[in-house]
Order: sequence, then C-alpha cells, then structure tokens
Amino acid sequence: MQRSRYSLLVISILFCQYSLFAQSARMREDFDNNWTFHLGEAANAKASEFDDASWRKLNLPHDWSIELPFDSTSPTNNSGGCLRGGLGWYRKTFTVPATDKGKIIFIDFDGVYRNSEVFINGHSLGMRPNGFISFRYELSQFLNYGGKNVIAVKVDNSQQPNSRWYSGSGIYRNVWLVKTGTTNIENWGTYVTTPSVSASSAKVTVTTSLTGTGEYCDVTTTILNAAGAPVGTQTQKGLHIGSLQTLPQTFSIGSPVLWSLENPYLYKAVTKVMSKGKLTDEYTTNFGIRSYKFDVDKGFFLNGKQVKIVGVCNHHDLGCLGTAINTRALERQLQILKGMGVNGIRTSHNPPAPELLDLCDKMGFIVMDEAFDMWKHRKVDFDYSKDFDEWYKQDLKDQVLRDRNHPSVFIWSLGNEIPEQHGKDGDTTGMALLREMQRIVRSLDDRPTVTANNHTDDNNQLLKSGIADLIGYNYNQGIWMPEHVQKKWGRKPFIVTESVSALQSRGHYDQPSDSMRVWPQRWDAPLKGANADFTCSAYENCYTPWGSSHLTTLKAFLKYESVSGMFVWTGFDYIGEPTPYPWPARSSYFGIVDLAGFPKDVYYLYQSLFTTKNVLHLFPHWNWKPGQTIDMWAYYNNADEVELFINGKSQGIRKKTGDDLYVMWRVPFEAGKVEAISKKNGKAVATQVIKTAGEPAKLIVQADRSAIKGDGKDLSFVTVKVVDAAGNLVPDAANEIQFKVSGAGFIAGVDNGCQTSLESFKGSQHKAFNGLCLAVVQSNGKPGVIKLQAQAAGLAGASIDITGK
Ligand code: GAL
Repeated sequence: MQRSRYSLLVISILFCQYSLFAQSARMREDFDNNWTFHLGEAANAKASEFDDASWRKLNLPHDWSIELPFDSTSPTNNSGGCLRGGLGWYRKTFTVPATDKGKIIFIDFDGVYRNSEVFINGHSLGMRPNGFISFRYELSQFLNYGGKNVIAVKVDNSQQPNSRWYSGSGIYRNVWLVKTGTTNIENWGTYVTTPSVSASSAKVTVTTSLTGTGEYCDVTTTILNAAGAPVGTQTQKGLHIGSLQTLPQTFSIGSPVLWSLENPYLYKAVTKVMSKGKLTDEYTTNFGIRSYKFDVDKGFFLNGKQVKIVGVCNHHDLGCLGTAINTRALERQLQILKGMGVNGIRTSHNPPAPELLDLCDKMGFIVMDEAFDMWKHRKVDFDYSKDFDEWYKQDLKDQVLRDRNHPSVFIWSLGNEIPEQHGKDGDTTGMALLREMQRIVRSLDDRPTVTANNHTDDNNQLLKSGIADLIGYNYNQGIWMPEHVQKKWGRKPFIVTESVSALQSRGHYDQPSDSMRVWPQRWDAPLKGANADFTCSAYENCYTPWGSSHLTTLKAFLKYESVSGMFVWTGFDYIGEPTPYPWPARSSYFGIVDLAGFPKDVYYLYQSLFTTKNVLHLFPHWNWKPGQTIDMWAYYNNADEVELFINGKSQGIRKKTGDDLYVMWRVPFEAGKVEAISKKNGKAVATQVIKTAGEPAKLIVQADRSAIKGDGKDLSFVTVKVVDAAGNLVPDAANEIQFKVSGAGFIAGVDNGCQTSLESFKGSQHKAFNGLCLAVVQSNGKPGVIKLQAQAAGLAGASIDITGK
C-alpha cells in the first residue's frame, strides 16, 4: 500500500514537470473563424493574390445548401430535401510566426461535402471525394513564416443526385491547425486496447506511432483517471525515430472504473515525446476500460452484464442547422434519445463527426460506426460508387484509425444494403470486397464487423461468405428467430442493423371511419384518403412495406434473447427522403422525434419500456367535433392499470395483458377535460390531463437552457407554444411567429417539425405546426444577454433572456 502510494506520488511529480513544457509541444488550434466564401466557380481563387474582398465573411462549420430555398426543380430532388448542391470556394488568410519555422504544421478537416481540393499559397495539397471522411494535409513546406498565407478550398457538390438523403454542402465540420516538433506522433497515432479487464485489474496497452528525422527521444505515457490523477506511467528511453515506428507500452491498472452505459468513465493516456531535453510532441487519447462480447444465444454483454442494444439510426443533419456540425445540437439530440431509453446509435450510413463519438463516449452510448451506403454499384447517379475503387481502402482505414480509441464504438458496419449482396449470375464481387475490407479492419482493430443486409435469401453473398463477425439484418422482422438465422448462416451473433421505418407527423391524428379503424396500417393508407396535405397520422399506424410498426417490431425484438440489439429507422426525422410523399414533402417521417426535436407520441412507448421513470402518455389532443368517436391511447409503465375519465366520468379501466404495449379507449368526444390515472396496487402512480383548447390567445416561450457559453458556438433551443387564454396548447395552431433577437446572439435556425413546410430554416419567422415552433439561438462570441422576442398577429407575444457567459 505504502509503496503504491509512493509510486503514484512520483508519477504525479513527473507528470507535473512534463506539464510545464506542454504548451509549446503540440498546438491544436480551432481554425473555424474568419473565412470568406463564394458560391459558384471563381477563376484562380486558389491563388494567394486572388482578391476575395467582396466574398461573404463567415465562420465554419458551414452548410451552404441549408441557406437556399426549397426548390421542386432541384436535381437533388426530394430525397435530397429539394435543396440544391453546387460548387463553392472558401478562403482564409492567416499569418504564421517566424518562430514556427522548423515545426511540422498540418491542417485537419473533419469533413467536407464533397470533392474537396485544398490549396495552400496556390499549391494543391490534394483532393478528397468522400464527403464524410476526416483528412489532413501537411503545410510546413509551403508556408511563409513570419508572413501571410492563404488556404483555399474548392468544394464541388454540383453533380446531382449523389445521395439518398440530404447531404449538405461545404466545410460542414470543424477545421484545425496542428503544430508539432519534428519528432512527433502520427495523425490518429495512438491505439489503446484493454486486452484483459476485471474488477480488480485491467491490462491497458497504448501503442504509439511516431515519425521523425533521426532524433533520439524518450517517450513517456501516463494514464490519468477521470479526476486527472495519474494511475500508471511508462517511459521508453533512447528511441531512434528515423521513420515511422510503433511503440507499445503496457500498464496494469488496479481496481479500474469500468466504462458502462450508466457510468461512462473515461481515462486519458497522455503521451509525451522528449528529444534533446525538450518536449517535441504531446498527444492525449481518451479511452475507456470495458469488456464486451456478442453471444450467439444470449446477445450482447457489457462488462459481463447482458444488455439489449436499443438503438436508433440517425443521419447527420441537425434539422434547421443543416449539416453544419454543432456540438450542443448533437448533445441535445443524444439527451433527447437517452431520455426515451435509447442506448445505441448507428451512424447511418457514413462515418460521423468526431464530436458525436466524443459525446457518445461521455454520455454512454453503443455506436455502430458505418462506412458506406454503397460499394461499386451505385444507388443514385453520382454517388460514392464512382470513387469507390480508388478510395475505399484509404477511407475505411482512416475511419478505423480515427475512431478506434472511442469506448463508445463497438461495431464497424462495412455497408448498408450493399447492392453486391445479391451476387446476381454468380457474381462474387461482393464477397471479394468484403474480404478485403475485413482484412483492412482486422489489421487495425479487433472490434466486430457487420454488413446491414436487406435481402436475406440464400444467395446473399455477404452473409453466405461468413466473413463479417456479426449477422446483420435490415427489417425482415418475421425471421429474427435464432432457429432461422442460425440455420441459414451458422452460429454467429445476430443484430438488427435497421428496423421499423414507420411514418408519423408529430401532433397530427386522423380519425378515419370505424370500418377503416385498423391499426397499424401499411403506408398506402395515408397516401389515399385524408392525407392530401401529406401529414401522416401520429397514431402507431403506418409503415413501409419493407418495415413494420413500432409495436410489431418491439414485440419481436423483446421476444428473442439472441437478438443482441436493433437500430430503429430513425431516432430523429432528417432532411430528405420523405418517402412515400412527393413535393412539397421534403423531410422524412421516420423519426421517433421530429426534425425540430419535439418527440412524437411513440417516443413515450420506448420510454415506458426502456427507462425506469414513471411514464403515462395519453393521446391524442382533446379538440374534436361533438360526438365524434375518438381512440384515446395510453403508453404506461410501473402500474397495473389505467383509468380514463371524461369530464370526471369514468370510461373504464384498461390493463395491458400478454404482450400488449399500450391500452386504448374508444370514446365519444365531449368538450372539457380528459384525464388518465395509472395505478399500482390501487395507488396512483401518474396522472395526465388534457383539456379542450380554445382559440389561440398567447405565446409561451421556453428555453432548454437560459445560460449558455458566450463562445460563438453554444446554442439555446427555444420552444414557442401557441396556447389559449387558459394556457392550453392549441393542438392545430399554425400561427406565423415573428422572432426578434437582440444582444449577444443571433438566430441560427427556425423550424416546426412539419415535413411539408417550405419556409426557410434560416429566416426570422416560421409558422407553428400543431401548436409548436422552435428558434435556435446562438451566441455571437461575446458575453452578455441575448433577448429573444416571439410575436404573432393577434396574440400576446412573449420574450426570454438568455445569458451568454
Ligand atoms: C432502408 C435504408 C435507409 C432508408 C430506409 C427508409 O432500406 O437502409 O437508408 O432508406 O430504408 O425506409
């Protein structure tokens, strides 16, 4: 005991000493601010001397497509959200101090959509077709030290269509400037593994890739716990770093705190390179210590505990912000999803922004990190299949190198519904490609791989090959039973890579005639009949022919222990793919949460199943025609029964029996008040009251956070509710809301979650949809109060103060 305390003290002293040098060793600077932008081609814009004085000044991340009007003639069509792509140029002028001479200087792009070419002082550094991959260029040899330098980036998203969903356009993720000494740690140059993990100890290996020009150096890695205290250190002295070299260092961590969904505990490995007594580089790797396995019969285990992966698929847009990455917007999405009991994210169908994985590490999510939506065979005319042959090896390698230290990443998905799965006429291309991809992944990491297959017939080349580690099905909910899966593909663990695809518009309820009152319904139902406005009933009613309702899917999911997890299509609505609706529909209906972040009713079904919180969710609203027959549904948990009252009169008690997931009353409408009370052993657990709302009278504004960082990036999401004089939400209110902002912020976006709204996401006004509207307020980089006012003709307005600190 004494000895280990003493050694920790020594480690602490050593670490503090090294920390003193730290500032100068590696600098990673946020390079997002002060760019200029031009939409369209600009001759010679790559040249340093080009005059960009008339160009728009902006800060990254930036998505130019989200600023354009919805356009029914856009070649992106409504799969791409009817927002145009195009070609754009970005430039940034910056100075590099003369004292940086001799340093190695890089520029890192987290993602540019797409076909980017980067120039420094007129020299082309390279091109990158893939819009979702992170990449780096070295600048050192082209820089003017002590003078002016110009980075120019050409982004070409003009060939359309190139995506099945809204892609956004531009430098939509963060950009970084990195400076190191000559002996340095490679890009994504550490690899942390935890080959053995138990409650009493964990073995941790940190393998570092180093490059240099022949110096001798000492490499020290220190492991810090979440409180920042060192818990282990290793030094290798006198390494001669002439060319790329890897150095493994192994640690034994006593009584490790394991990374879990409930306690996503993070350690740090801080690696320092000392040469000739000077620190030349320092690199920090966040990691978690956890063990996991996929079992053929019993599904997924994390730290020895069986866990069902309740996941959702999400695309990368952030609603009205477009695809321009914003950490707070991502965090809000994850908080909303966590609140309904989701513990898994599939980054469909591409590598995500690194910030998403950082958040999943911190918040405790299981990530399926996906590489591609297609391989050689195209899905739309100008998609990545054109670049696949030349780039897939590099792109996959870079994805795995970048993401493999994240404790939240558990599965590599090598492709979604890959056309090569079919292997028509004996074509074995798919198998050969999968073999090569498996080889690439395995050479870098040992996490399991999967492909997301929608065709499960005997000819599926990818499943038949047995190459990927997990069997992955999209949909096919009728055949998830282990007998079936294992008979076909052998005893391999099984995961549902994608499920459901049900359609809903938040707050919209059809009450068809009694003869049609059959829930759930296939998707042709809303196309006919009452849905000429292309809203889709938020009852649990409507799904694609390949999908299944949430209810049916959940029943199958819960029934088979061998189903290790599933990823519902989708957590959030996303821009594009409003299947099956035509223009003016321009965003999807698949989300459990709408595009603005407002939960649809089915959110509470998941919450009732996968959280411990007391849930009682009664719907729909209580504004109907006198005498009209209404289905009132309730999702609930932690209770034996629910009783419904209309204006104080009981409508009966309902209990879920068998595998029921909800209860229902069919009642005549009578204006006033409907109330549900759930009870356990006769004692009330939860109550919900809905009142018939009168005419819209006023607005209520509520911010998700009234204090934000004054850093130019942080956001406050402000919900506006249209209510009657008594404060009841008016369930069909569509009032136009005018926003005014003053002080230290601006409006980054407005939305209402309606899939057919053609109002701009970037305006300062927006209609409410079924009573709700959203304004996203962003700090302008200065501390101070931001005042947001919301007004609507004929209604009492409201305002809120948000403090940027
Ligand atoms: C799936 C596909 C998704 C999405 C979904 C819509 O087959 O993998 O990308 O298109 O259908 O239902």
